[in-house]
Amino acid sequence: MKKLLLAISKGRILEEALELLEKSNIKCLESPHASRKLIIETNLKFLDIMIVRASDVPVYIESGKVDLGIVGKDTLLETSANSHLRLKDLNIAACKLVIAGKKGKILASNMKVATKYPMITKKFFQDEGLPCSVLKLYGSIELAAVLGLSDVIVDLVETGQTLKDNGLVELQLIEKITSLLIVNKTSYKINRQHIDHFLNKIN
Ligand code: PRP
Repeated sequence: MKKLLLAISKGRILEEALELLEKSNIKCLESPHASRKLIIETNLKFLDIMIVRASDVPVYIESGKVDLGIVGKDTLLETSANSHLRLKDLNIAACKLVIAGKKGKILASNMKVATKYPMITKKFFQDEGLPCSVLKLYGSIELAAVLGLSDVIVDLVETGQTLKDNGLVELQLIEKITSLLIVNKTSYKINRQHIDHFLNKIN
């Protein structure tokens, strides 16, 4: 029997995802934190898990090498991959994607926007009728607005502490974000029984 492989996003999502699995009586046979193994068995004979960077989850699912994924809606909005189905909103790792900047900043045409999310950003500003130039950064996005490298940023806000501590404010909500369980469409057809069993356990 080919086992199912579940890819979980690193970082905040991972902690809450492992908690959710534990609550559903799905346990890793080795600690994903302590072990250097990249694929870890679980107490479900048909399920292994792997932990990867968020943006890699849709890539693995698209390839068909990985069956299931736990990934933020932000990552799904940013990807052009479309060979997956959204099975369930897990309601974990809740946060929001916002435009932020210095207090009083008014959104206008031709702004420079720094973000990890160029696709979402371009689309949002385009839909608002505000052409903009996007600067892609990979972390600590707030710095761009603090240093004036960009006019505003598009970033995730969870508690709001990072914005506050850096003298920035939320200017506009783009999207509420939670993490979803996704599945490769073909895998869902072939492995329906095991996937439904897994789904029932985490319901
Ligand atoms: C995320 C996000 C914000 C921060 C928001 O960054 O990009 O910087 O968390 O959280 P808060 O509202 O609770 O303060 P992350 O910690 O993932 O690191 P990064 O900046 O390197 O992406």
